[in-house]
Amino acid sequence: MPAVSKVCCIGAGYVGGPTCAVIALKCPHVQVTIVDLNQDRIDAWNSPDYKLPIYEPGLKDVVRQARGRNLFFSTNIDQAIQDADLIFVSVNTPTKKSGVGAGFAADLKYVESATRRIAKVATSNKIVVEKSTVPCRTAESMRTILEANSRPNCRFDILSNPEFLAEGTAISDLFNPDRVLIGSLQTPDGIAASNALRDIYANWVPTDRVLTVGLWSSELSKLAANAMLAQRISSINALSAICEATGANIDEVAHAIGYDSRIGPKFLRASVGFGGSCFQKDILNLVYLSRSLHLPEVADYWEQVVIMNEYQKRRFTKTVVDTLFNTITGKHIAVLGFAFKADTGDTRESPAITLVKDFLQEKALVNIYDPQVEREQIWADLAEAMPSVPSSDIQKQVHITSSALECCRNAEAVVIATEWREFREIDWELVYAGMNKPAFVFDGRLLVDAQKLRGIGFQVTVIGRGERL
Ligand code: NAD
Ligand code: UDX
Repeated sequence: MPAVSKVCCIGAGYVGGPTCAVIALKCPHVQVTIVDLNQDRIDAWNSPDYKLPIYEPGLKDVVRQARGRNLFFSTNIDQAIQDADLIFVSVNTPTKKSGVGAGFAADLKYVESATRRIAKVATSNKIVVEKSTVPCRTAESMRTILEANSRPNCRFDILSNPEFLAEGTAISDLFNPDRVLIGSLQTPDGIAASNALRDIYANWVPTDRVLTVGLWSSELSKLAANAMLAQRISSINALSAICEATGANIDEVAHAIGYDSRIGPKFLRASVGFGGSCFQKDILNLVYLSRSLHLPEVADYWEQVVIMNEYQKRRFTKTVVDTLFNTITGKHIAVLGFAFKADTGDTRESPAITLVKDFLQEKALVNIYDPQVEREQIWADLAEAMPSVPSSDIQKQVHITSSALECCRNAEAVVIATEWREFREIDWELVYAGMNKPAFVFDGRLLVDAQKLRGIGFQVTVIGRGERL
């Protein structure tokens, strides 16, 4: 099989954009075209002043170096498909909202339409790579669609190459991945296609970190990795509830158990709950797969990870209400952070959305500040979370501010929902001076120095810490 010289990526989102921009940077001899149906998104990727559609540390530099050289963003999907030797399918695979499997199964309509497009317009052989996270055996459906709709003498080899980057650290994860996983059919053609993709990564990834496996193992490994990562967070969050009830300290517990080399220290940070577009969606996908395979005990086991996460968010709201003398009606709550984690502007499944919704239902007045999330996004998320409440009513109760200090002014309580470093560094004495007393801080991210804040005069409640002084 000849070496790949032209790559197309269908889907210019959080994964397709950074992943293929890094491929372009590291492989100057390969032409990379990232395409999308969304004209606004493509315009933003092409914006002269690099106002890219997503915020990701280091991304601008990568795009600045490669764009116009061997990296292109376009809405001309058909042309890019025709030109390419290798096509990444990196479209969204959200949880289905209605119909069979609603609330659990992945909605594969975008994967299917991208696949049909490839079949329709391709005039030469292509390697088609599943980059999107998909249920096990999706590659088989893609093959069926491609083979049933293609022109004669057009061959398609299908690979699975799931993406493991985390938002906020996408560029460093892509520069230095723990591993790259490539799944293929174990046929001579499948292995040749897998080698062609491996050769692209070989431009910067050490060969021992490129793992080649069977197609179905690769697809399942992606769901498995996210399920196990999320399971660790739900486990530590379940323990945080025990800490709060007993006086134990979740940081000390995490530290002690993380020292066991079999457990390891990472991903044991108790929080108000995990968010992001992947964990919940991929676990629910795994739950659905397990139920479809008549494995109800397996399904229940994984579903508990999501149930525990919902419990953690509810538990946090209850702590806030209980601590504020059992009512927050008419009280001002300052919510610091709206993104699902620090260093991203992404709010998908952010725990902050659930918290704000809960506070609004308790009739509180909520101020929100996030350094990266656009105001329109916050309004859209709240409208989606409360479809039966008119937007004008939401806007009466919510005020979006331009700084953390402004957010906290005249509030009764501050809730830390995202672990932005700037929240640790704000002038807490000034915050205290501007708040109504008693002034409360609820740290849902183990971010602030609770003792220091207590010294200033705050009443501080920290997730996973029993003591409330
Ligand atoms: P996204 O919503 O940010 O981007 C997907 C893009 O695909 C959108 O811009 C959409 O307009 C475009 N699109 C949809 N159908 C199309 C079509 N037929 N033709 C052209 N463009 C089309 O999604 P994302 O976060 O980049 O996720 C993509 C996939 O990667 C998902 O399966 C997700 O589970 C997986 N994933 C995401 C992450 C993450 O951190 N976001 C990490 C690993 C894997
Ligand atoms: C995740 C996986 O890490 C990544 O490999 C996969 O490709 C996509 O899904 P992402 O969702 O971007 O990445 O971020 P991640 O760092 O995993 O955090 C997910 C959520 O868990 C965030 O809300 C984060 O705040 C929370 N989290 C993470 C914790 O609450 N505690 C931790 O110890 C780690």
